[in-house]
Amino acid sequence: MPNPYGHFDDENREYVITRPDTPLPWLNYLGQDDFFGLCTNCGGGYTFFRDAKLRRLTRYRYNEIPYDNNGRYLYVKDGGTVWSPTWKPVRTPLDRYECRHGLGYTRIAAEKDGVEVEMLFFIPNGETVELWKTTVRNKSGAKKSLQLFSFQEFCSYEAQNDATNYQRTYSIGEVEVEDGVIYHTTEFRERRDHYTIFGCTRPLSGFDTCRDAFVGVHHGLHDPCAVLAGQSGNSIAHGWNPIGSHGLSLELEPGAEESFTFVLGYIEHGKENKFAAPFVINKVKGRAAMEKYRDMGAVDAAFAAVSSRWDELLGVIHVKTPSAVLNRMGNIWNQVQCMATFNLSRSASLFETGIGRGMGYRDSNQDLLGFVHLVPEKARQRLLDIAATQMSGGLCFHQYQPLTKKGNADIGGGFMDDHLWLILSACAYIKETGDAGVLQENIGYADQPDDAKVGSLLDHLELSIRYCLDNCGPHGLPLIGHADWNDCLNLNCFSTEPNESFQLAAHGADDRVAESLMIAGLFLHAANLFAELYDFLGQAAPAARIREGYAAIRRAVDEHGWDGSWFLRAYDASGNPVGSAQNPEGKIYIESQGWCILGGVGLEDGRARQALDSVHEHLFFEHGCVLQQPAYSGYHVELGEVSSYPPGYKENAGVFCHNNPWIQFALMRLGDGDRAFDYYLSICPAAKEDTIDTYRGEPYVYSQMISGKDAAVPGEAKNAWLTGCAAWTFLTVSQGFCGIQPDYHGLRLDPCIPAAWPEFQAIRRFRGATYHITVKNPSGCCKGIARLTVDGRAMPLHVIPLAQPGAKVEVEAILGAA
Ligand code: GLC
Ligand code: GLC
Repeated sequence: MPNPYGHFDDENREYVITRPDTPLPWLNYLGQDDFFGLCTNCGGGYTFFRDAKLRRLTRYRYNEIPYDNNGRYLYVKDGGTVWSPTWKPVRTPLDRYECRHGLGYTRIAAEKDGVEVEMLFFIPNGETVELWKTTVRNKSGAKKSLQLFSFQEFCSYEAQNDATNYQRTYSIGEVEVEDGVIYHTTEFRERRDHYTIFGCTRPLSGFDTCRDAFVGVHHGLHDPCAVLAGQSGNSIAHGWNPIGSHGLSLELEPGAEESFTFVLGYIEHGKENKFAAPFVINKVKGRAAMEKYRDMGAVDAAFAAVSSRWDELLGVIHVKTPSAVLNRMGNIWNQVQCMATFNLSRSASLFETGIGRGMGYRDSNQDLLGFVHLVPEKARQRLLDIAATQMSGGLCFHQYQPLTKKGNADIGGGFMDDHLWLILSACAYIKETGDAGVLQENIGYADQPDDAKVGSLLDHLELSIRYCLDNCGPHGLPLIGHADWNDCLNLNCFSTEPNESFQLAAHGADDRVAESLMIAGLFLHAANLFAELYDFLGQAAPAARIREGYAAIRRAVDEHGWDGSWFLRAYDASGNPVGSAQNPEGKIYIESQGWCILGGVGLEDGRARQALDSVHEHLFFEHGCVLQQPAYSGYHVELGEVSSYPPGYKENAGVFCHNNPWIQFALMRLGDGDRAFDYYLSICPAAKEDTIDTYRGEPYVYSQMISGKDAAVPGEAKNAWLTGCAAWTFLTVSQGFCGIQPDYHGLRLDPCIPAAWPEFQAIRRFRGATYHITVKNPSGCCKGIARLTVDGRAMPLHVIPLAQPGAKVEVEAILGAA
C-alpha cells in the first residue's frame, strides 16, 4: 500500500507530506552553525543558540496531548473562520495542505476558502536568525479582508529551569516593544548579555507579548481570545509567560498576493553598553538584524545560499546503484541525518528533550565517521573537543555541554568503551584529510584544568589503548565498568532502588570482575587501526607494541570468548557468562558478534560464519536484527537496565538500529553482499513506506529503535534522527556496499554488493580530486576485484592512488576472481 501521508521528491531533495495528521510528528532541522530550530510538519518545535539546555529561545511542550504543542504559528481569521496554514494549533480542516521538509528548511503551504498561505522556515548560513518567509494569496474571485496573528512563546533560556522553576520564572519575564519589534529581555537586567527579537517586516495592526492576554487563561492555542476577537491587545508581559505575536490586517483583491517575513533572532550583545537608558536595553544590534531582512531580495538570497551549501556538501559522494532506496538514502537523507548528529549529537530531538544529554563521547566519535567527509575542518575541532574531555587516568566524561564544551557528569560515567572510539574517529579524520599533524595538537586532560599535565592527541590515543590493556579481568578480557556500548548492560550495579537512575547507580559489586566481549572486539579493531596508523607514520616500534596488545586480547577472546555457536557477550560480576546457550534468556547478543568479527576473530576458522548464521537464525526478522534472544521476561538485578525494559523494546530485544550495520559490515567481511543488503533494507526507513502506520516514524531518517519480535506491536520505530545508526549505515553504503574507502595514501576500492547488481557508478571528491568510479559485475558475484584501471592504466587490486587536487580521475573495476 502506498504511503498515504506523503512521498519522496528526490529531484528537489524533499520529503513531501500531504496530510498533516502523520502517525507521529515528523521532524526536520533548520540551521547549520550555532543556531538551530526543530520544525515538525505542523510547524512545531523550538529554536536555540548552540545548546538546547542552556540557551533556548522558544518554548516547546513535549509529551502533551495532542503531541507537538507550541511552534511557529500563524492564525488566519477570514470572516468567521479561523485556520492555520500549519494545520495546528487550530486544526481547522484545510482545502489543501503540503509540507516539504527539505535540506535545512521546511516549507508549508495550505489553502482554505480561496486563501493560500505559504510559509518557508529556514536559518541563513552563519547567522543567528530564523526567518519565516510568508506569502498570502487571494485565489478566490472576491476581495478578502484577513486578520493574521503570529505566535511564538519565549523560553527563559535555561530550559530546565524554565520547565520546572515557576516560582521564579513567573516573575522574571520581561519584554520591550519598539516599532512593532518584540524584544524578549528576560534576565538581561542581571547576568545575561543576550536577548531575542521577534519582528515582522510588514506594518502591524497590533501586537501581544503576554500569553494570558493573547490566549486567555482558560483558552488554548487552538482558540486564543485575541484571534477570536480579531484584535491584538498590545499587551506587555511582566512576568508570567512572555510571548511574541504580531497582528496584521490584509486587504487582498482577487488574484493579489503579499509577501513578508517574520524574523526571530538571537542577539549576543556583550557586556558593554547594555542599556540605552536606565533599564531600557540597547537595541542597536537588534535593529540591525531586523533591518537586513526587510528586503525580500536578501531573504531569497539567504535561502539560495542555504541550498548551495547543501549542493556542495552532498557533492562529496554520490552513488548510482540499481537500488532506488539506497540511492535516495545514501545520497540525500542519510547524509543529512549524519549532519544532524554532528550538530546535535544526542541533545535535541522529539525524543531527546535538550535538557538531558549533550555531546556524547562515544556517540560523537562514531558520528564523526559519518560526517568527516562533509565537514573535515569542523570534524577536526570536534575531535579535539571530544579528546579534551578525557581524563588523565584514561576514562572520559561520558558527555559534554555544547555551549561550554565542559564535561558533564550528571548523566553518568565509567563506561569502559568510551576512550576506544577516539581511535576510530582520529584515524577516519586522518584518512579523509591526510592531516596527520592533528596528532601533535596539545589538548590536555579534563581533570587537569590548569594544564598541569599536557597531552597531545596521540598521547590520548595511547592512553586509551593502555587503559584498556591495564584494566582486564579474570579472563584477561577488558573490564566493562559501568557499561560498554550497551549503556544498559549494568553488570556491576545491582540496583534495587526504583528512583535510582541506572546510568548513575553506584557499583554494588566488585567491578574488577565483569568483562565485556564487545569491548574486546572493539579494542581489537582499534588496535589494528592504530598499528596501521603507526605504519603510515613510519614508526615500527610503537606499531609492534600495539600489535602485542592486540595479540594479548586476541588470545583471551579465542580462549574465553566463544560459546560454541556464537561469541559470548560478557562475564558478569560473579564470573558467569552472559549471552551464552547456558543462560535461560539472553542466550545470544548482537554486539559481540559484530565486534569480534570486525576485530578479526574467527575469519580463518569458520567461527565468524557460524556466529553470523546464528544471528540469522536467532536475531534476524523482517524489521532487522534484534539485540538479543530470548528477551528477558523480568528484571535481573545482576544485569541491570537491559532487563528493565519490557520484552521487544530498547536494549531488551528491540531492533536497536545502531548495531545492525555492524552485522552488515561483518557479513561483508565474509563477502556476503546478498545477506548484508537484505539486512540493510530491513531497517531502512525509506523501505517502510508501505507499512507506515505500523512503523510510524519519519520514512526519511533512521530511528534509534524498531520494536522487536517480542513486542506487542513489532516493527514500530521510536527515537528518530539522533542515533549512531546514521553514521554506521552511511559507512555500510559508502565504504561497504560501494567499497569506496578513504585511506592514508589514496582511496581503496573494495565493493561488496548483491550478486544481482550488474553494475554501479559513484562520484567521490577526495582531497581535492574527483573520482568517477564505475564497477561492473559481469559474472554476478558479490565481492572481489578481477581488474582495476585508473585513467586507463591497470592498477594493483584495490589501490586508487592519490591524484593531484583538481584532477578528474576515471576508475573502472571489474568484479570477479582475481
Ligand atoms: C543510546 C546511546 C548510546 C548507546 C546506546 C546503547 O543510543 O546514545 O551511547 O551506546 O544507546 O545503549
Ligand atoms: C537509557 C537508554 C539507552 C541510553 C541511555 C542514556 O538507558 O536505554 O539507550 O543510551 O539511557 O542515558
